[in-house]
Order: sequence, then C-alpha cells, then structure tokens
Amino acid sequence: MSGLFITLEGPEGAGKTTNREFLAERLRTAGHEVLLTREPGGTPLAERIRELLLAPSDEPMATDTELLLMFAARAQHLDQVIRPALAAGKVVLCDRFTDATYAYQGGGRGVSEARIAVLEDFVQGTLRPDLTLVFDLPVDVGLARAAARGRLDRFEQEGPAFFEAVRQTYLRRAALNPQRYRIIDAGQPLVDVQRQLERLLPELLERQP
Ligand SMILES: Nc1ncnc2c1ncn2[C@@H]1O[C@H](COP(=O)(O)OP(=O)(O)OP(=O)(O)O)[C@@H](O)[C@H]1O
Ligand SMILES: [Mg+2]
Repeated sequence: MSGLFITLEGPEGAGKTTNREFLAERLRTAGHEVLLTREPGGTPLAERIRELLLAPSDEPMATDTELLLMFAARAQHLDQVIRPALAAGKVVLCDRFTDATYAYQGGGRGVSEARIAVLEDFVQGTLRPDLTLVFDLPVDVGLARAAARGRLDRFEQEGPAFFEAVRQTYLRRAALNPQRYRIIDAGQPLVDVQRQLERLLPELLERQP
C-alpha cells in the first residue's frame, strides 16, 4: 500500500501555510487520511534543526552547512514521518520539500543543481513528490506579506535578487516537469487562490491509489 505525497512550494508569503489546512480539510472530507507536515522540521529533532536554519546569527552559516542541515532534517522527517505515513496509505501534505532546496540553496545561494541532486538521491532514494503545488507571486508582494507577519527569519532577511532567483527556479522546475507541478497564482486575494485549489481537487483525488 502506498499513499500520495503532495508538496506545497513557493517563496515567502505565498500562502502555503495559510492554505494547507484548507487543502487538508477538503481531502479529509473526500475520505482520505491526511498527514499535514512541514519542512524544514516535522519531527522534534528536525524542528531543532529548523531553528538552527532560521535563526539570524552573528556567525555566517556556510552554504554547505545550510545545505547539509536541510537534508539532515529531511532524512529524519522521511524516516520518522513521511515514509511511515505513505506506507500506511495516507495522503502526506508537506509545506515545502526538496524543491525549496533547489530554489533557495540552488537558485538563491548558487549551489549547483548537480550537487543538490546527489544529496536528493542519497537521502530520498527514488522517493519524489507525486504532485507539487507551486504558489507563485511577485517577489515584492510576498515579501510585504512576510514582513507584515513580524520578525524576519534568516532567509527573509535576504534581498530581492535572492527571492527573484528563488521564484525563477520554482517556475523553471515546474515548466520542465508539467506532469508533477501545478502553478497557483498566489498573488490574488485568498478567496481566488482557494478557488484555484478547489479546481485542482478532483485531479488530486484521482491520483490517490
Ligand atoms: N491570497 C492572499 N492575499 C493576502 N494575504 C495573504 C494571502 N495568502 C496569505 N496571506 C497572508 O500573507 C502572510 C503570509 O502567508 P503564509 O504564512 O501562508 O505564507 P507562506 O507561503 O507559508 O510563507 P513562508 O514561506 O514564509 O512560510 C500571512 O499573514 C497570510 O495571512
Ligand atoms: Mg509558511
């Protein structure tokens, strides 16, 4: 038995966290057992790694340290939460996953795609999301939303060029694999974003084995 692995991606302030409960509720209503989780994090140990990754610090974090911590947290999350849930036939709805590593550490920090792919294979084996929803919006709109939320984390303190690279990396990956990715226009008011998600639901449910 194997479940369905859906990831929510997109830059800061795109609405991933705002909409994940809405999606989970719709999937539950349709009769699925849904596990809602997030990255970096998703287990107590992985959440401690998340704190290391997000906390602003006087000591600059080396790019490889950041990359390896992301995958260390992911290894723990996969082992403790994601793989068992998929094995039990659940729908796993994950707020960020490896596409975020390609976008932030790759596009944003400049780590080569090949280098990330090595770690992806190492940590995940052949496991990839079945479906990835990319919440896309102009960088300035997302940053304004994130800023309104309060204190900025270590990533949110980056400049517009960083986030433009993040956005373009998501869009490029989505364009290369339209079978797996769906792009949500996340710059619209929340009701319109949720209308787009509603339209995707039949397709999401159809993929459930
Ligand atoms: N469609 C929308 N229109 C206006 N505001 C929105 C919309 N969607 C979300 N917001 C608001 O924008 C802020 C950021 O949303 P949210 O936290 O869901 O983004 P996120 O994609 O999870 O960001 P991050 O990657 O930083 O976690 C929140 O305060 C949320 O209420
Ligand atoms: Mg969020």
